[in-house]
Amino acid sequence: MKKTAALLLTAAMTMTMLFAGCGDAAKDADTKNADNEANVEDVSGTESAQGEGPLADGVLNVGTNAEFPPFEFVGDDGEPDGFDMALIKAIGEKLGVDVVVENMEFDSLVASIGSKIDVAIAGMTITDERKNAVDFSDEYYEAVQYVIVSADSEIASAADLEGKNIGVQLGTTGDFIVEDIEGATAAQYNKAVDAVNDLRNGRVDAVIIDKNPAQVFGEQFKDEVKLFDGESPEFGFEKEYYAIALPKGDAELAKSINDALAELKEDGTFDELVTQYIGN
Ligand code: ARG
Repeated sequence: MKKTAALLLTAAMTMTMLFAGCGDAAKDADTKNADNEANVEDVSGTESAQGEGPLADGVLNVGTNAEFPPFEFVGDDGEPDGFDMALIKAIGEKLGVDVVVENMEFDSLVASIGSKIDVAIAGMTITDERKNAVDFSDEYYEAVQYVIVSADSEIASAADLEGKNIGVQLGTTGDFIVEDIEGATAAQYNKAVDAVNDLRNGRVDAVIIDKNPAQVFGEQFKDEVKLFDGESPEFGFEKEYYAIALPKGDAELAKSINDALAELKEDGTFDELVTQYIGN
């Protein structure tokens, strides 16, 4: 995609703020940047309707965070692999563009759309807050948060999580749930597996993470941990829906991606990928 100096500056400012650790300031800047980008496009009159959108150069730059099996993980060849990677490549094929994947921190994905990356696919849940900064494609997968505890833990309900130290991946919906648990502290990790390892080491009391990655970790460490389905009445967490995060207001790109997704569902490719990567 075409990058303007303004966009690069915006990205640099966002990165600076992130590195400075001003979480909230960075979030504010994030929202403002989205406005700035819209202005830049208005002024220059370049819109995807005129064939100058993200797809115009034949490359779709996709951001992910390959720390979330089976949706994305680093494969044996060192490249991001997993359900989402296969899905976005299949979408790219339908659209006739090359997919270039950038592996980055989950918490940076939304802010990077429109500058460093065109879209993000990362098992990302549609949330109202994220919708302030980005648009979402049609949803493609249903999820819910799971709770992982050590095999001998007495934690068995949401009430038991009160006042506890809970491992989460930074900026995820699991992280947001911990904010609402009375007296609980979120131990935030950039990599989900580090949260799970700290649970195994006894440094956190529980880990809250999406169902399928929880099942992968649960299987990997099955003698040490046990899982709770967050949708059970004991926890009462709400269902979540994954979608591809898109630049705000690019209706043409959204339509192209949604049409491709619909075709992949229609022709059976989507189900094949589910079987291949997720297995249910
Ligand atoms: N579904 C959760 C969210 O949107 C977690 C996603 C984490 N994804 C990842 N690739 N690390 O917040």
